[in-house]
Amino acid sequence: MNQVAPDTLSEHAGATSSETGREIILEVTDLKKYFPIKSGVLFQREVAAVKAVDGVSFKIFQGETLGLVGESGCGKSTTGRTILQLYRATSGSVKFRGQEITSLKGTSMRKMRREMQMVFQDPYASLNPRMSVGRIVGEPLVVHNIGTKKEREERVAELLKLVGLNPYFVNRYPHEFSGGQRQRIGLARSLALNPSFIVADEPISALDVSIQAQVVNLLEQLQDDLGLTYLFIAHDLSMVRHLCDRVAVMYLGKIVEIAESEELYTNPLHPYTQALLSAVPVPDPVVEEQRQRIILKGDVPSPINPPIGCNFNTRCPVAVDVCHEEDPKLEEVLPSHWVACHRVV
Ligand SMILES: Nc1ncnc2c1ncn2[C@@H]1O[C@H](COP(=O)(O)OP(=O)(O)O)[C@@H](O)[C@H]1O
Ligand SMILES: [Mg+2]
Repeated sequence: MNQVAPDTLSEHAGATSSETGREIILEVTDLKKYFPIKSGVLFQREVAAVKAVDGVSFKIFQGETLGLVGESGCGKSTTGRTILQLYRATSGSVKFRGQEITSLKGTSMRKMRREMQMVFQDPYASLNPRMSVGRIVGEPLVVHNIGTKKEREERVAELLKLVGLNPYFVNRYPHEFSGGQRQRIGLARSLALNPSFIVADEPISALDVSIQAQVVNLLEQLQDDLGLTYLFIAHDLSMVRHLCDRVAVMYLGKIVEIAESEELYTNPLHPYTQALLSAVPVPDPVVEEQRQRIILKGDVPSPINPPIGCNFNTRCPVAVDVCHEEDPKLEEVLPSHWVACHRVV
């Protein structure tokens, strides 16, 4: 009899999704990132941990934009950084194009790093003020020892054009640019090594509203031109609707709901998603007039001591006994619509 090793089977299942036939570029399974809190002499004793990411699972398909949304402190940035191996995962798996990357080291890690890049929220803080734009954008090429000096200069000019900046400004310094332009510089730098996957961590949150749409348009255009896949992190739901194909909502280290954008906006099922969504203004004045804001009581609990049962139970308007006892699992309640809530399933 022909026996297929279980390993081969699961590898295969990770490469393409049977439901959609689309290639999965990234698969995150039960990812955890705990930051130890140390105490005692020389801070050697671990007394507790910040459970920043506490069992997150999702997939991202080739060429799509997955939004990751939730209030400040819920673990979005840590998720992004742990995926990119800027932090070592506490446990769980991250597969990039079917390959487990949490255990990579040395050359294979460097090779993988070229494929995955991050764009940061704060273009002021993430660009070295003492480096010219040309050096900032070209630095990844130097670090990875790519091309001659002249080839690198050409590539930098090409990258600046790609993000809508005039290569003429290559010798200027970050402070000579506006916030939107600085975000473009950061984007050019992250594209230097030709990545296929980008974690954009609140790339427009620090920008003027008038500039936000321009940067969003640029991200979309780059996605089309270069075939990029994005994990787009945002703290509210207003910007992600049109940009993202699917949206995952995060609360206190866990994903509480994930669905296609339109589905999430028209049929939010988790009480936390409903509350987040109720804060988003609607362009239709009649609908906007009737919009009821759901105000959540209290603050997000500490990730050092998350509640027993459902993480959301301290603020949930519909919590019942079971919500204080059992942690709800993320379940597919409608096609491609996943929710972790005892009141929905
Ligand atoms: N390097 C770190 N050391 C300790 N705690 C951290 C560290 N980075 C983040 N945290 C904590 O982890 C939680 C999640 O943070 P973060 O991922 O930055 O959330 P978000 O990006 O959603 O605002 C927060 O409670 C934060 O204080
Ligand atoms: Mg963050």
